[in-house]
Amino acid sequence: MLLKNNLKFIVYFVFFQSICCYLNPVILIPGDGGAQIEAKLNKTSTVHYLCDKITNDYFNIWLNMELLVPVIIDCWIDNLKLIYDNQTRTTRNNDGVSLRIPGFGLSETVEWLDPSHAATGSYFNAIANLLVSLGHERNITLRGAPYDFRKAPNENEEYFNDLKILIEDTYQNNLQQPVILIAHSMGGPMSLQFLNRQTQEWKDKYIKSLVTLSGAWGGSVKAIKVYAIGDDLGSFVLRESTMRLQQITSPSLAYLLPSPLYWKSDEVLVQTDRKNFSLSNLKEFFYDISYPAGWEMKKDTEIYQLDFKPPGVEVHCLYGTQVDTVERLYYKPGTWLDGYPTLVMGNGDGTVNLRSLEGCLLWRNMQSQNIYSVPLAKVDHLGILSDKNVLQYISDLVNAV
Ligand SMILES: *[C@@H]1O[C@H](CO)[C@@H](O)[C@H](O)[C@H]1NC(C)=O
Ligand SMILES: *[C@@H]1O[C@H](CO)[C@@H](O)[C@H](O)[C@H]1NC(C)=O
Ligand SMILES: *[C@@H]1O[C@H](CO)[C@@H](O)[C@H](O)[C@H]1NC(C)=O
Ligand SMILES: *[C@@H]1O[C@H](CO)[C@@H](O)[C@H](O)[C@H]1NC(C)=O
Repeated sequence: MLLKNNLKFIVYFVFFQSICCYLNPVILIPGDGGAQIEAKLNKTSTVHYLCDKITNDYFNIWLNMELLVPVIIDCWIDNLKLIYDNQTRTTRNNDGVSLRIPGFGLSETVEWLDPSHAATGSYFNAIANLLVSLGHERNITLRGAPYDFRKAPNENEEYFNDLKILIEDTYQNNLQQPVILIAHSMGGPMSLQFLNRQTQEWKDKYIKSLVTLSGAWGGSVKAIKVYAIGDDLGSFVLRESTMRLQQITSPSLAYLLPSPLYWKSDEVLVQTDRKNFSLSNLKEFFYDISYPAGWEMKKDTEIYQLDFKPPGVEVHCLYGTQVDTVERLYYKPGTWLDGYPTLVMGNGDGTVNLRSLEGCLLWRNMQSQNIYSVPLAKVDHLGILSDKNVLQYISDLVNAV
């Protein structure tokens, strides 16, 4: 009887191991804008009488399309913008605003940016559904690591600590299987920052591979465009100039400026008939658009752009190409930075320039672990998250043991 039970146990164990849990757990690392944010208010003043001063509890502020409508959007900006202190060189939330990033360790808040599951807020959901179909279990073998994407690595040290603990726990709770990190956009360079904070021994033990989708390795000219005129997130109902008031307060935008590793210092990024702007005189650009704090944030974050040591783990670097991507801002003769530029387009994924997406290639021959690069024609920056070739690639990767 005892033997029979033992045998049953052994059979069960072998079966369980081979079918279920040779799956390497997966942790999803989002990019800029790729996590939910909740806010709680206790303000003494607001920008408009329609804005709430006090809320009893936390409410969803990102992504919440209902708050991005005329007038209410002014309250939204005032609640989500950061205030930069050039003495401490850090940012803080506006007075009377508490923000939190819900769902750390779970998958929900990086699958859906909008808790109502509106299609516009679908993020890692297609990849999560795929992984579940392959035997993964949400919150157990499939987890999310959202962070305050408004901030750059210098203000995310606590996140890097939390992520380390999350990876170790996930490894321990899943038969000590090393973890696959899947990162999107700015999540790529954030993962690199994280990995470069760990020892090689730690990485060998806990990390199976890093999969990056649209990794913004060397920043993007799009960041310059956002400083100049803002971004409407591709929505016809939003105004760039309004969104800009919140967007430019994020140090992560400075972190995503074109990196000196990939742009020559004299390459023209902004062209006017009076003056051209390149990395060499970017300070003048910030002063000429009357946003000197942007230059301070650039100085705070450039060291993280330049810190580009190979991650020391196997990398699968997937990115879109051949989608029009802003390469230069051109202001017609007679106009200046307060006008509206023509966007001169080049190769990329619609958001990030090709040279930045290919940044991962720099590590070839610099580390012993493989770097696989997978360019995907006509796949755009967000489309990559549900592209069928990408899903197939991830499926093959997850199934290969
Ligand atoms: C709101 O802030 C005031 C101080 O400005 C404080 O006295 C009060 O207790 C706060 N209310 C809540 C609900 O936190
Ligand atoms: C620093 O901030 C103060 C207060 O906002 C401002 O007056 C000053 O010009 C700033 N200095 C720089 C170098 O941006
Ligand atoms: C994951 O955890 C959250 C919070 O505990 C829970 O709401 C959600 O239902 C869980 N998902 C699954 C699939 O268990
Ligand atoms: C700006 O750059 C363009 C293109 O490189 C060049 O033709 C032009 O002469 C430059 N203008 C100024 C004012 O330097």
